[in-house]
Amino acid sequence: MVERKRETFSGKLGFILSCLGSAIGLGNIWMFPWRLGKYGGAAFLIPYFICVFTLGVTGLIGEFAFGRSRQGGSLKGIKEVFKEKNLRFGKFFAVMPTLAVSGILIFYTIVVGWVLRYFCASLKGNLNSVDIPKYFNNFAGTSQSIGWHFLAMVIGVVIVILGVAKGIERINKIIMPSLFIIFVILMIRSLTLSGAMEGVKYLLVPDWSYLFKPMTWIMALGQAFFTVSLNGAGMVVYGSYLKKDVDIISSSINVAIFDTISALLASLIIIPAAFAFGLDPAAGPSLLFITMPFIFKSMPLGYIFSILFFISIVFAAISSAINMLEASSEAFISQFKMRRVKSVVIIGVIAFIIGIPLDVDMAKFGAWADFITIYLAPIGAIIASIAFFWIYGADRALKDINEGSKKPLGKWFKPVAKYLYTFSIVIVLILGIIYNGIG
Ligand code: TRP
Repeated sequence: MVERKRETFSGKLGFILSCLGSAIGLGNIWMFPWRLGKYGGAAFLIPYFICVFTLGVTGLIGEFAFGRSRQGGSLKGIKEVFKEKNLRFGKFFAVMPTLAVSGILIFYTIVVGWVLRYFCASLKGNLNSVDIPKYFNNFAGTSQSIGWHFLAMVIGVVIVILGVAKGIERINKIIMPSLFIIFVILMIRSLTLSGAMEGVKYLLVPDWSYLFKPMTWIMALGQAFFTVSLNGAGMVVYGSYLKKDVDIISSSINVAIFDTISALLASLIIIPAAFAFGLDPAAGPSLLFITMPFIFKSMPLGYIFSILFFISIVFAAISSAINMLEASSEAFISQFKMRRVKSVVIIGVIAFIIGIPLDVDMAKFGAWADFITIYLAPIGAIIASIAFFWIYGADRALKDINEGSKKPLGKWFKPVAKYLYTFSIVIVLILGIIYNGIG
């Protein structure tokens, strides 16, 4: 097969928006608001900002630069780096991040399916007339969700088949700005509900005592890694489509900033509304699929706001799923020299089929999601970090990172990346195992 020229993002904006598409997802919407309220309100922001802007940004810089310098996803990159130094087990380590991202893809598309169904139900106005907890429980965890799961996968496959610039970048350039606009509209609606201010207080009045509780820091750390999609594959593959003249450092900072803004907006939508209606601000699936529909049911013009809400969640979730699908497919493309269409379809079909048993059994779904996010994702991130900063070497890594940047990083970055960052992911892994999930 002839080697084709590697695709690229058209420029910095398209790249940042695509990475934001990956970063902004369920972590921002169903984890962050709840954690912000639970771990000390505004006090939680301090450890969170520290983690996301030091470790999160370091991780993004590393993954982007790794992809760009090897002109390939992490499977290719890690293999090459091990080979160059004659290290053994390169292939074994190299597949781990890709396996992790494929594992996330498998359960994430199921949730995308749920969100699609809720979006359609909100369009039809169905959410107004049903018993919401029943509606969710009679659907999620049953064979009824399979069709929606399939639809979610087909949408992802179609976008990724179109390619990096024509598919991924183009769709993110539309849906990411739309998502922010919708979030602002929803936030204004939520904040003007009577009783909403109680929720704002819950979110924002700091309880400084939480800064002295280790759990606050642990949750902030896990959140920071998950929310910017660090697992050694997703962001590496987007970095591999980056031109040499794009500033990786400022791009990474932008991704972290806008990802954080979206999480804050989501919090200011969800928690005040929950308080206004006297509901418990829960975490996880019940927040999106039970609490929020309940709020829309009782809210004036709830019909319109429910449509806006669910379309924005569709945007957030789909754009993350396409990153996972791209990362998995690119590994196939580079490993087997396969055409894009073929490899995306193969990955889509396999991931869908493996997901079916999880569709019909919520316990299995939970166990799978936990296993992947607690073990495989941090392990993937550790391997990529060691491959790039240790084996490939911090000196060369720094040079690649600084290429195209207006304000290059100094030598101080080397120990930060090599020791502090790598060591932090090891901690994420260990704490995740101890506490059964922190990401
Ligand atoms: N960042 C995404 C979210 O907040 C989820 C995510 C984690 C992810 N790891 C990933 C997305 C790897 C793409 C690739 O929901």
